[in-house]
Amino acid sequence: MSVILVQGYHSLKGELEIQGSKNAVLPMMAAAILHKGTTVLHHVPRIQDVFCMMGILESLGCVCRLEGHTLSIDARELTCCRIPEEGGKAMRSSIILLGALLGRCNEAFAHYPGGCSIGSRPIDLHLRALKELGAVIEEDDGVLHAASTGLSGTVIHLSYPSVGATENILLAAAGANGTTVLHGAAREPEVEVLCRMLGAMGVRIRGMGTELLEIQGEKTLGGGVFEVPGDRIVTGTYAAAVMAAGGRALFRRSSPRHLGCVLSTMKSMGAAIRIDQDGVEVSMEGRTRPWAVETGPYPGFPTDLQSLLMVLFAVGEGGGYLKETVFEGRFATAKELHKMGAAIIIEGKEAFVTGGQLRGACVRSCDLRGGAALVVAGLAADGETRITDCHHIDRGYEDICKDLQSLGAVIRRET
Ligand code: UD1
Repeated sequence: MSVILVQGYHSLKGELEIQGSKNAVLPMMAAAILHKGTTVLHHVPRIQDVFCMMGILESLGCVCRLEGHTLSIDARELTCCRIPEEGGKAMRSSIILLGALLGRCNEAFAHYPGGCSIGSRPIDLHLRALKELGAVIEEDDGVLHAASTGLSGTVIHLSYPSVGATENILLAAAGANGTTVLHGAAREPEVEVLCRMLGAMGVRIRGMGTELLEIQGEKTLGGGVFEVPGDRIVTGTYAAAVMAAGGRALFRRSSPRHLGCVLSTMKSMGAAIRIDQDGVEVSMEGRTRPWAVETGPYPGFPTDLQSLLMVLFAVGEGGGYLKETVFEGRFATAKELHKMGAAIIIEGKEAFVTGGQLRGACVRSCDLRGGAALVVAGLAADGETRITDCHHIDRGYEDICKDLQSLGAVIRRET
């Protein structure tokens, strides 16, 4: 088991290239199995979720090779359509392989994903939509079996713009007969990236980036070489680090186009933000100003950065207010921040944070973004902060210690 140790009160300065996006690369990897050949992805982040997805694809019969940040997936021989239990449960987003496997081989087995630390995370919307496309789905002892004699395009209405369900539908509809019209699709940039990749593979998609998608299924999809965009959530994390610790940093490959709501919130809280062709530069002097934020589907404020904002409010001048509308369990990090002296009152979906001073403490990373938020809290705390259960952070950050060290943070990892 490894821990991260952070010494607070060192301001940050420098430049950083942002890793490829976790939430974009995983559906891109799933899309690769729709092509009976090799697909190449560049700027792939070397994170645990990618390694886990590679393991799952290999168990299905694909040959995956990751050299540096380039991943090639050869899906010529897909010999199995059973998502292995271990990989499937380790990474909930493996559920999007259901749509891809149905599209490619008309059958898929997957373990029903359990609850997780940020909320119950049901998959009812995924399953309903796949059934509407013609799949018969049965559950036996926690194992889902989906099969069809060939999916058929149809009209689907999503009652909530679920990111995963939208991706599952896209992947299934890409291999279906006829046209699928999807109302209420998620508009997250990662969905658009998947649409563009499928488009380049030969699927005709109208309405990319909107909540109304029209997908014309194609039986034979081509491969290609694709670029994973920079991770907007990692950019947001490191921007929050600069705001918590003070200083100035430039983030290259940082997807500023997709950070509108985040950067405008950070500006309102006192950060100076400059965007040009090099990337996003964030600088901060003094403490953050109070603000009120409600999370929501894109283009709203991303739930993935909510715990980072909580930290900024906790070390700010006048605190702040948060309303979490996406995942009910995303306030778990508040309990750990209390150990560092934060004053946070949680009432259902709302958090009332009083601004103040944090002190170093031993805290536990509860989930991926919550763990990163504790690292950022450590940068602004008096003394040393010790963060345990760092494996959560490794799911989405290539090397958070190295990145922050390069900006001047005093941080290290001990195993
Ligand atoms: C994805 C992202 C995650 C991000 C989230 C919301 C990936 C790998 N993960 O997760 O980082 O925080 O989008 O932007 O891309 N829901 C249902 N039934 C369903 C599906 C979802 O009720 O069948 C609910 C969920 O419980 C949650 C909400 O819808 O309350 C949003 O979930 P969803 O958009 O599906 O998130 P994920 O795709 O799991």
